[in-house]
Amino acid sequence: MNNVTVVDHPLVQHKLTLMRDKTTSTKGFRQLLREISTLLCYEVTRDLPLDLVDIETPLMPMRSRMLAGKKLVFAPILRAGMGLLEGMLDLVPSARVAHIGLYRDPDSLVAVEYYFKAPTILAERLVIAVDPMLATGNTAVAAIDRLKEHGANELRFVCLLATETGLANLRRHHPEVRVWTAAIDEQLNDHGYILPGLGDAGDRLYGTR
Ligand code: URA
Repeated sequence: MNNVTVVDHPLVQHKLTLMRDKTTSTKGFRQLLREISTLLCYEVTRDLPLDLVDIETPLMPMRSRMLAGKKLVFAPILRAGMGLLEGMLDLVPSARVAHIGLYRDPDSLVAVEYYFKAPTILAERLVIAVDPMLATGNTAVAAIDRLKEHGANELRFVCLLATETGLANLRRHHPEVRVWTAAIDEQLNDHGYILPGLGDAGDRLYGTR
């Protein structure tokens, strides 16, 4: 799948295994998610364009490279997406943030919106939607629908775990949106949970059930 990048860096895979382990504490899970999000952010921004600028070092003038092009917006899907946000902001502190409140109806698995707040003029920005779990893909599709309605026209998606079902759903609705994930798991259970997965990402992040 040419629009999906599986980030197979050893540090990412090691941390993901710790996160999958049910004995990992809430504190450990939160810390690991933050660390992985920084590594995923490094990969999703790998091809950002650079400009040459004139600066002076303490010794002499030089032309050096700086980020050019569209400013970044990170768009965490509440609530588990918040677990990826801080680590990404550590790498790109000037990024703006769009919060998207969606929950999955437990029976229909359809995404229901309860909050949306985004920076203005999304059209001039690269928007990176983030959610740890791309399970059925319904939530990701709904989030990207909303971001597009607000003008976003260049979008990427970052998650920790994806499924072929979720990726196919996202590709069907938004074929131009590239995805970065740490792994693609085998299947979904009847409740829309990823197997083998890591459980409910929001519950594990915040210690709820
Ligand atoms: N959301 C989760 O938190 N976990 C899953 O396995 C699927 C969706």
